[in-house]
Amino acid sequence: MEKIKTAVLVSGGGTNLQAILDAEREGIIKSAEVVTVISDREGAYALERARAAGAEALTIPFKTYGREAFERELSAALEERGIGLIVLAGFMRILSAEFTAKYPDRILNIHPSLIPSFCGAGYYGLKVHEAALNYGVKVTGATVHFVNEIPDGGKIVAQKAVYIRPEDTPETLQKRVMQEAEWIIFPRAIEEVAAKLRRSE
Ligand code: GRF
Repeated sequence: MEKIKTAVLVSGGGTNLQAILDAEREGIIKSAEVVTVISDREGAYALERARAAGAEALTIPFKTYGREAFERELSAALEERGIGLIVLAGFMRILSAEFTAKYPDRILNIHPSLIPSFCGAGYYGLKVHEAALNYGVKVTGATVHFVNEIPDGGKIVAQKAVYIRPEDTPETLQKRVMQEAEWIIFPRAIEEVAAKLRRSE
């Protein structure tokens, strides 16, 4: 049976991408195949990681194109490659409702908190961890969810909790949430969703 052709969208360093590529190599991901990695920014380090793993690395510069043309180029690239699953791994753009409607239950994102806490527009990167520390919660974590027209509002696929330590800073917390939660649940959730898609095809 053919694997689900998967595109990973990135903007930055790509540690989640790395976890996904490693999981594919190790056979933890066996129902999906990362065929392309697409960045909205030139020179994102994630692209190097893609090339090193033998995956195609593309850039569609958002700044040059603007949202409409960016999404048009993106759709064309995905269609050309027969992509059945889109994974947002540190992708820092919000996709339009027109775009997300084309891929119902086929776009996955990871968010570094336990949704519905500290999520939605404006909660990205270190801001999420700053907000958790400012609120004083004792437990945070990561959430994998489907992407729809509401930022961080789609159905939840997986979550994992991480305990906050009294000495945590936004930086130490961000790192631990990645190590203890994001890099573990994201590959597993991708496999779970891809396996289901495969069975239904
Ligand atoms: C992660 O914290 C992820 O949860 C968020 O953006 C960050 C991306 O890091 N959406 P990386 O590019 O995967 O290293």
